[in-house]
Amino acid sequence: MIKLEQLKLEGLTKINEATNSKTLQEVRVMYLGKKGPIQEVMKSMKELPVEERPAFGQEVNEVKQTLAEAIENKKIQIEEEEVNAKLEAEKIDITLEGIRPVIATLHPLTIVTQELEDLFIGLGYTIAEGPELTTDLYNFERANIPKDHPARDMQDTFYIDVENLLRTHTTAVQTLVLEENAPKLPVKLVCPGKVYRRDDDDATHSHQFQQMEALVVDENITLADLKGTLELMAKRMFGEEREIRFRPSFFPFTEPSVEVDVSCHMCGGKGCSTCKSTGWIEILGAGMVHPAVLEMAGYDATECSGFAFGVGIERIAMLKYGIDDIRHFYTNDVRFLKTFTRFE
Ligand code: DAH
Repeated sequence: MIKLEQLKLEGLTKINEATNSKTLQEVRVMYLGKKGPIQEVMKSMKELPVEERPAFGQEVNEVKQTLAEAIENKKIQIEEEEVNAKLEAEKIDITLEGIRPVIATLHPLTIVTQELEDLFIGLGYTIAEGPELTTDLYNFERANIPKDHPARDMQDTFYIDVENLLRTHTTAVQTLVLEENAPKLPVKLVCPGKVYRRDDDDATHSHQFQQMEALVVDENITLADLKGTLELMAKRMFGEEREIRFRPSFFPFTEPSVEVDVSCHMCGGKGCSTCKSTGWIEILGAGMVHPAVLEMAGYDATECSGFAFGVGIERIAMLKYGIDDIRHFYTNDVRFLKTFTRFE
């Protein structure tokens, strides 16, 4: 019994001193395994008188139980310590400055195009797309541009062959969708896209640039509808205080034709370098769709009328953001593009 008590105290001390699962496991094998000192004591039971054996057996079991419980408690404690040590070792310092990922920005031409599209979708227009490679028929003939018009010159147009060419204006889409829709009414669409001209590139010219064409055809469409629409567009793009004015002009595909100016958003109309001291800035060409254009596409021009305009996306972006050279849009200098970053 005394030996047993000794073994218990010894075991408890060892359990207490164990600092990791490995040594604890060794203690367990030693005291609760098949060959340990407790088993030795058990073997000596035979030497006891029969009547003392149950009490002794019970005592052995109690010691084993006590040690097993102590080992279990210690195990929980060690495991907890080990997990804590691991967490401590793997701790991430979240106060460290991270590496900022490079976030792409929207190209200014995309921003302007999306703003215009949003505006016109809100007014019930659909977005149309047409081919950049088109034909003399849709780019010129159906736009009422006569055979001897200078725009048809090889100097101005990228011809692929006698009939095929890169569209010089989005009016080429206007003539195509008119034909596709005729004689259905109404037609109400905008068409943004690239156009091509044989220009030498400089600060204000590019051999490829972007336009957005707008076309509305229905019964009783008037110049007043055109003016209201353009006024809304000018205010949305350049500020609520903007006004517009029409100046008479000429395009083969519209009659009457107008050049549209917007009051200068830089000086408010007083006169500055942006508006060349006039207070007005020319932004686009527009007019009432020429009856010949409607008729060629398959509409009865006595029963319907329409307005159209074509606006240069680069021109709007240059005015809006004060960009002085059209080539910036295409050289893709990241320092330029980054000025349009939304998140900084
Ligand atoms: N197509 C013309 C150009 O490229 C722009 C234009 C003017 C389009 C008047 C139109 C319009 O639809 O009515 O210069």
